[in-house]
Amino acid sequence: MSKLNKFKRFTITSALPYANGPLHIGHLAGAYLPADIFVRYLRLRKKEVVYICGSDEHGAAITIKAKKEGTTPQAIIDKYHAQIRDSFQEFGISFDIYHRTSSPIHHDLSQEFFLNLYEKDEFIEKFSEQYFDEEYQQFLADRYIVGTCPNCGNENAYGDQCENCGTSLNPTDLINPISTLSGKPPVLKSTKHWFLPLDKYQPWLEKWIDEKENDWKVNVFGQCKSWLKSGLQPRSMTRDLDWGIDVPLEEAKGKKLYVWMDAPIGYISATKQWAIDNGKDWKLYWKKQEHEADNSCLLHFIGKDNIVFHCIIFPSILHAHGEYILPQNVPANEFLNLEGDKLSTSRNHAVWLHEYLEEFPGKQDELRYVLTSILPETSDSEFTWKDYQARVNNELVAILGNYVNRVMILMHKFYDGKIESDGSNIVLTDSVLDTELGRFYDEIEINLESYKFRQALQSVMEIARLGNRYLTENEPWKTIKNDPEAARNALHNSLILIGHLAVCLQPFLPGTVAKIAGMLNWPLKKLALDQPIAFENGHQLNPAALLFEKVEDEVIDKQIQKLLDKKAAAQPQKQETLIPAKGNINFESFAAMDIRTGTILTAEKVAKTKKLLKLTIDTGIDQRTIVSGIAEYFEPEAVIGKKVSVLINLEPREIKGIVSQGMILMAENAEGKLSFVSVDEEMHNGSVVR
Ligand code: MF3
Ligand code: ZN
Repeated sequence: MSKLNKFKRFTITSALPYANGPLHIGHLAGAYLPADIFVRYLRLRKKEVVYICGSDEHGAAITIKAKKEGTTPQAIIDKYHAQIRDSFQEFGISFDIYHRTSSPIHHDLSQEFFLNLYEKDEFIEKFSEQYFDEEYQQFLADRYIVGTCPNCGNENAYGDQCENCGTSLNPTDLINPISTLSGKPPVLKSTKHWFLPLDKYQPWLEKWIDEKENDWKVNVFGQCKSWLKSGLQPRSMTRDLDWGIDVPLEEAKGKKLYVWMDAPIGYISATKQWAIDNGKDWKLYWKKQEHEADNSCLLHFIGKDNIVFHCIIFPSILHAHGEYILPQNVPANEFLNLEGDKLSTSRNHAVWLHEYLEEFPGKQDELRYVLTSILPETSDSEFTWKDYQARVNNELVAILGNYVNRVMILMHKFYDGKIESDGSNIVLTDSVLDTELGRFYDEIEINLESYKFRQALQSVMEIARLGNRYLTENEPWKTIKNDPEAARNALHNSLILIGHLAVCLQPFLPGTVAKIAGMLNWPLKKLALDQPIAFENGHQLNPAALLFEKVEDEVIDKQIQKLLDKKAAAQPQKQETLIPAKGNINFESFAAMDIRTGTILTAEKVAKTKKLLKLTIDTGIDQRTIVSGIAEYFEPEAVIGKKVSVLINLEPREIKGIVSQGMILMAENAEGKLSFVSVDEEMHNGSVVR
């Protein structure tokens, strides 16, 4: 308990998920599994800790979903709040409370925060031009507007944030903004809003964040520094929306709080509710105390797209309020990908938790294990079903499960599961094992406390590896014949190692630990850091049970196929939206184009590109080179000899170092599929198309 020792209690939060859809493995790997591991570790350390989460039920994420499903926002949040809460519970995410931001206690506290800042004159009140959808007669906040991110070029950036590069945006920053309601470009219209003066807090933020340089994860610290460097702008804390928390001002009737103003306050309101339910004092967990050393340690576990809100905006709000502690750390994770592609709710490219639970009943720890092994702690990482299978079979079954099973089976075979010796208590008698074990405990502690959960889990698995090696070296199944005392001693040491293994597995695989406790015939609370791992003479073990089952190829193949099917199913749903007709041109503009019939003579792929073919064309007039972006649809061999229409007087252009002299005419449908604009075989090359 090195660094953490100075704190008396811990307030741990995981990002409040939007109640607008089910959870997938990316959610778990981003903000929940790491936090749960950390919280379970703190509890093991007998620290005072409250673990807070709940549904984020405001904002455009909810209303857009309601519109899509043809229902009300209330129906959406009720449905998904329940589903999300249940999925978390099934996976053993051990929140002390899973609250919701639609609750009255949260509305009250959010309004109180707003008024506190309002009365201190913190907000800048100003009229500004905001995007407005004339067809829907509605202002377009946040997710109601999409466009191209000025920072990274992502074409689907939202009005408040680009989820690709994490940049926080204002709608007017977007290039080519489009309303998600009507699909049309919006107009600007004046409206009054209340802005948080982030520019005013910038010097304070800089000082605060600079202090974190050696403590925070590099990715988190780096993002913060880069925002500060580009200079913070005031950010509106109110919205023209009809779903959300009312702005508590007479003159702001009909306006709502910005969802990113209210949602993080949800951490506090949830703590309040938990305190009411459990007879605690919520202030101890959130408010500054008289003595610094008394302070609670606040930690936010989030995904990388939430960094700006937790490291810049929410701390600014807390700072402006003045009575609250600030986060000690924000250990954000990067993104998890799936089978070579981004996880995507809209394309249904995901492993959904509720589906996994149905198809892999009782196998929550397997998923916890695999996800922990590949957590995107320092960079994006990838889940594949083959890797899932390999890790379950080669690590959980072959190392951990196998070790526990070998020891249990032998104990039952030789001694009917009874632990007996001439001494009183059975303790570890092998000093080498003892030293190694101590080293692993240290490694696990250091890694857990620096949020290196992957590494920590590896160190735990080292204990199982150590156990397997110890058994192989001592061969109790052989020594039982000529040196029965040595066999008994080796097996007792192995059992004690299983006890330690179970203690160290507590933060990671709670279900497995319960099973081990069952086999050892120990209450769970004996598998703790402050309990001696020793057996009473005569202790009776329960029968051996397998901890993990091998994952067969068929199971994995089925999951891979399912993802492919989903991808295929997601395709036709794409609406055939035809590109609107262009404006008129005069005849001269048309006549200026020289289009001829021609024949493709040669075709080859352009190196290091996916789309390009280098073609030689006989245009009747000459033979020329044309680079064409058709390689994804046509193999070179298939187009040689083809009759085509060619625009021959297009200015030559250099593409990938090749001078392209003209353009082949192609038809393209909404899905990007291509077809040649065909010409009858008997037309001679060089015939005019007009
Ligand atoms: N709902 C947000 C998301 O899914 C996270 C909100 S975190 C909180 O990205 F701090 F605002 F609660
Ligand atoms: Zn971007």
